[in-house]
Amino acid sequence: MKYGHFDDENREYVITNPKTPYPWINYLGNEDFFSLTSNTAGGYTFYKDAKFRRLTRYRYNNVPIDDGGKYFYIKDEDTTWCPGWKPVKTELDSYECRHGMSYTKFKSSKNGVQAEVLQFIPLGFWGEIQKVSIKNTSSKVKKLKLFSFIEWCLWNAEDDMTNFQRNFNTGEVEIEDAVIYHKTEFKERRNHYAFYSVNSKINGFDTDRESFLGLYNGFDAPDVVAEGRSKNTEAHGWSPVASHYIEVELQPNEEKDYVFMLGYVEVEEDNKWESKSVINKKPAKDMIAKFDTVDKVTTAFNELSAYWDNLLGKINIQSGEQKLDRMVNIWNQYQCMVTFNMSRSASFFESGIGRGMGFRDSNQDLIGFVHQIPERARERIVDIASTQFEDGSCYHQYQPLTKKGNAILGGNFNDDPLWLILSTTEYIKETGDFSLLDELVPFDNDMSRAKPHFDHLKASFYHVVNNLGPHNLPLIGRADWNDCLNLNCFSKDPNESFQTTGNKKDGKAESLMIAGLFVVYGKEYVKLCHQIGKTTEADNAQIHIDNMIEAVKKDGWDGDWYLRAYDYYGNKVGTHENEEGKIFIESQGWCTMAEIGKEDGLVEKSLNAVKEHLDSDYGIVLNSPAFSKYYIEYGEISTYPKGYKENGGVFCHNNPWIMIGETMIGRGDEAYDYYSKIAPSFLEDISELHKVEPYVYCQMIAGKEAFKPGEAKNSWLSGTASWNFYAITQYILGIKPDYNGLSINPCIPKKWDGFKMKRVFRGVTYNIEVTNPDHVSKGIKQILVNGNVINTSIIPIQEEGQNHRITVVMG
Ligand code: GLC
Ligand code: GLC
Repeated sequence: MKYGHFDDENREYVITNPKTPYPWINYLGNEDFFSLTSNTAGGYTFYKDAKFRRLTRYRYNNVPIDDGGKYFYIKDEDTTWCPGWKPVKTELDSYECRHGMSYTKFKSSKNGVQAEVLQFIPLGFWGEIQKVSIKNTSSKVKKLKLFSFIEWCLWNAEDDMTNFQRNFNTGEVEIEDAVIYHKTEFKERRNHYAFYSVNSKINGFDTDRESFLGLYNGFDAPDVVAEGRSKNTEAHGWSPVASHYIEVELQPNEEKDYVFMLGYVEVEEDNKWESKSVINKKPAKDMIAKFDTVDKVTTAFNELSAYWDNLLGKINIQSGEQKLDRMVNIWNQYQCMVTFNMSRSASFFESGIGRGMGFRDSNQDLIGFVHQIPERARERIVDIASTQFEDGSCYHQYQPLTKKGNAILGGNFNDDPLWLILSTTEYIKETGDFSLLDELVPFDNDMSRAKPHFDHLKASFYHVVNNLGPHNLPLIGRADWNDCLNLNCFSKDPNESFQTTGNKKDGKAESLMIAGLFVVYGKEYVKLCHQIGKTTEADNAQIHIDNMIEAVKKDGWDGDWYLRAYDYYGNKVGTHENEEGKIFIESQGWCTMAEIGKEDGLVEKSLNAVKEHLDSDYGIVLNSPAFSKYYIEYGEISTYPKGYKENGGVFCHNNPWIMIGETMIGRGDEAYDYYSKIAPSFLEDISELHKVEPYVYCQMIAGKEAFKPGEAKNSWLSGTASWNFYAITQYILGIKPDYNGLSINPCIPKKWDGFKMKRVFRGVTYNIEVTNPDHVSKGIKQILVNGNVINTSIIPIQEEGQNHRITVVMG
């Protein structure tokens, strides 16, 4: 069953039934200022950091779900309704929610009145615009009452939900004309406030929640709306809110527009006050003046749309498969921008107070984003590398506001350092900007300890070399990519978190996943060294890679697949000898991508084993059989019920590793089959089961041993977005940036006749047409650049600013 449809031309998903199986959300904002908006107008807004600078309140895991947001109530005689359906839930005559590129549009109608709400954040602006248009489609004069409503968060979202003995006393507001200013804690240590305005005269306002709602009412039945007039309350402590009241009289066919703005202001320390206890409102008024007419709003909206035209114009395909095209051309790229911005901080599953920017997460997110805005990717790489230590280890996370490593969580996740080689080499290949390697980047955010960025890569590489275990395989530390495989943890205490509990001393557990990862990014490191003339370093590094390959072949092969690890006691993990958890996906992915033992058939055998043991109707599960009881020596992985999360769930992030592995041995049918099993647009028809948005990837789909296979959770913020984009564009479609040009090496389903890709690469547009007359999966017969045959599969960098025609014949 579907709840809407794709509108590819407008790059929108159009939800036509508000009762989606879970809130289907969108993100507004691209750089500093963000909002999350659900299809029923739920969500919240923050500046940079969803924990420390949250403007409006949101209650996670609430009952009913998704209560609280940015609401407009329309009172038309005895009927009250909302353009987003919630919170009043009056049955609407029509409802539509269009989630587009950084904006959301509602269009609903009831009893001859049509309301449209357009929400977006203008480029480079610290405020959300809500343009509300109300139209009388009846033949009678309409006298309507419009109420806006938002609820202020007292800035620190965690404190806001816990520290009531203080918070109920701190709330403060000011009201001037049609603007409500939220100035809680402004007089002490804050240099910022928020405001909510509208560009018209108002007939009333409220800022005290209890007065607006009535203590025993929900958002669905505010007293003020029922009574049909505001109480003009000024909040003192308790819970400040902001609500405007506007009387709207409309002749038949008449339409009126209102521009609301939810803004954030920072003032200089010595310029905080206009007069005693009165805040300096000038910056807010300047912001309001920027968008006080519909024309100005329209101009900003068009700019936003042009911005996305440009970003999405850099990679565009025509494959003949509509579902694939809409993923690659629109939604997957869009999600990559969102994951780049948010890491794992704020979604409807991540509360915005837990995790900041992850070291491994943000490095991986970058590979789906770097072609869009390389300058931002570069800045991010430097931020991430700055939280590393001289020995290559690093903080696992940092807070976006301060950019400092999170000391409570610490480090010692031994895969972390390697991902820096991935992000850096991808960045340089995309841009050709080798200067990043010379930039001075601090260790542990201490500029006096800065070294050229290249030294950070070297430290990453040798962190593995210097931390090998008894089988000469990489020590796992607290965990590798799989946060839940806690082989050195041995946690018995239900009050401790697997994520923050340290290891038992001298933990010697080893990871085959890191081994594969090391070979893949070790080779990249060597290749980079050659590019910049560091041949001796390249030769030295190669020795360690060769040793690792030998170690995997010797002690990492189980007969039909790669082992997953050695545990604390030196026992094998992921072996046919075990009763549960016989085979794991991560080491199959990384060791096949590394092509370890390919010449002896290991890669093919491993991928066959994946097909046999891990594949399912809804994607490839993480391990099989799933664990049915708690194994203290394995940790969190065995805490999840069978088929969920890291215990036998389809953990979508790692499926592309297998897709890429398949392309290493030319199996395009298998690679694409795996791709289409988890790509959200392919699952639209089973939305009822899948539950989460059909336009973005989620972290986890319940696996074959779960209670409800196919049911998905944790949409939006997952490395799944960048990895799938990377796999489909660079390995399946096979168009891949390299240091000296664009490499062409598709691995597609045999039945395809070919495909077209437009690729903007270093300022040059390549119009690539791939044909597949012999219906092969892999192999190239001929490449022509502007009609001339070339003898390499890497198209050399062409002259900037020109269009080039590339014709590829497979066979
Ligand atoms: C989560 C984490 C990521 C980890 C993965 C597997 O997605 O954000 O860092 O690699 O789970 O455990
Ligand atoms: C839990 C989750 C895992 C996530 C980790 C990070 O262990 O299962 O997916 O990466 O938390 O906080």
